[in-house]
Amino acid sequence: MKLSKEVARLLTESLCDQVTEIYAPASPIPANLPALPGLPDQGRGYESLPELWSLVVAGSSRLASPLMMGHMDTAPHPIAALSDAVVSALNNNLLFRELSPIASQIEEELVTLFIERLGLGEDWAGTFASGGSLANLTALFAACGGFAKPGGRERVRVYVTDSIHASVKKSAAVLGMTPSQVIIVASDETGRMHPDALDECLSDNRNCQNIVVGVLGSTIHGAVDPLDELGAIASKHGAWFHVDAIYGGALVFSSRNRQFLKGIDRADSVVLGPQKWMYVPRLSALVLIKGRDLFDRSLGVDLPYSATGEAHRGKWGLQGSRRADAVTLWLTLQAVGLNGIAEMGDNGIALTREFYDLLQADDTFQPTHAPDLNLQCFKPRRGLGDEAMSKIHRALTEAGGPWVSLSRWRGELLFRSVLLSPDIGAGDLQALLKSLAPLVAQVH
Ligand SMILES: Cc1ncc(COP(=O)(O)O)c(C=O)c1O
Repeated sequence: MKLSKEVARLLTESLCDQVTEIYAPASPIPANLPALPGLPDQGRGYESLPELWSLVVAGSSRLASPLMMGHMDTAPHPIAALSDAVVSALNNNLLFRELSPIASQIEEELVTLFIERLGLGEDWAGTFASGGSLANLTALFAACGGFAKPGGRERVRVYVTDSIHASVKKSAAVLGMTPSQVIIVASDETGRMHPDALDECLSDNRNCQNIVVGVLGSTIHGAVDPLDELGAIASKHGAWFHVDAIYGGALVFSSRNRQFLKGIDRADSVVLGPQKWMYVPRLSALVLIKGRDLFDRSLGVDLPYSATGEAHRGKWGLQGSRRADAVTLWLTLQAVGLNGIAEMGDNGIALTREFYDLLQADDTFQPTHAPDLNLQCFKPRRGLGDEAMSKIHRALTEAGGPWVSLSRWRGELLFRSVLLSPDIGAGDLQALLKSLAPLVAQVH
């Protein structure tokens, strides 16, 4: 384990080279994977690291590249990546305060910051969780009654649309529900729930324990549900209103796009995912619950193995040990600033609207929806089947230039762009269409 200053200096220099390379424009997906050396019985030592790091970089997807426009997967801001190395080395554990003194305090401050900025009210409480899926599971567990009400889930109904992220359905299954307890409510062309349809569904299930899930930034379209209306209807029927803001919750610091948060204050639980649009590394998410008592009752457990009387952050939630993701986020917010995060989000949304206009005027492609956030799906004007779309997409990947994902929505394959990297410009979008157009022309 001993690391001399001399070796540390040499490694730091090599690390700087790697970081610079990671943030340079590059093909989003490696064409070939380098051969992996076998694992040695005797370790190869610190000196072997620069070469091994290069090998890993060569075989990795390059999320920081402005050519990468395909997924809700962020390259962390360099400030976040470098800060995360310090967080990793410290490896403090949010389970107990003695294992994370300042991290526990930072997590508490960030939970309070998000509650305040979302306008949720003083009685809310929350915790970080490792990733969006776990955050949704934790919130839905609380909505069902949590540790205070084990079992008895037959009466629970969860209302979603067909655009819901798989984690919500997985959560329902983990919580012991059958697929028929997850009710798909009618929605518009991007999966935004129709309030009237929800009203009708809830009227039909008066005797159930109802949980409505609204989404602020859906996975395929970045669509934002009419949260205000859904929240009002949920409240009228005495249903729990959960908001999955794993993606769009990043707009919490924006003033230009604050309208998308309208109605979030009607929620009973909210999940946020800084790991996506707040430019910090995985797995950074939060679960926020209305009512401190409820938070305690539904998500609190005893931790007898550290009975110091301190308010341990590990008391709440489904996890035991937890990484100090709050610290990486806090360091990033300190260095980039709340306005800096807001600006990256706002610029991404503005660029996506430009892309929508570009697609509308394009001869070969058409947008399939008007964007809410920074996601834009599109398809060739010429109707093409699955095989042709897959072929075009494979050729796009092999070309190593601008890259979008291929997503299935209501049976149809679409190209899906997510304009996350702050380095993406209008020129990259034009280059994308320019490289896709001949591929479309070539397929029959
Ligand atoms: C809307 C939404 N909710 C939840 C999740 C799950 O997050 P994770 O991938 O961190 O588990 C995602 C992931 O893309 C998402 O888009």
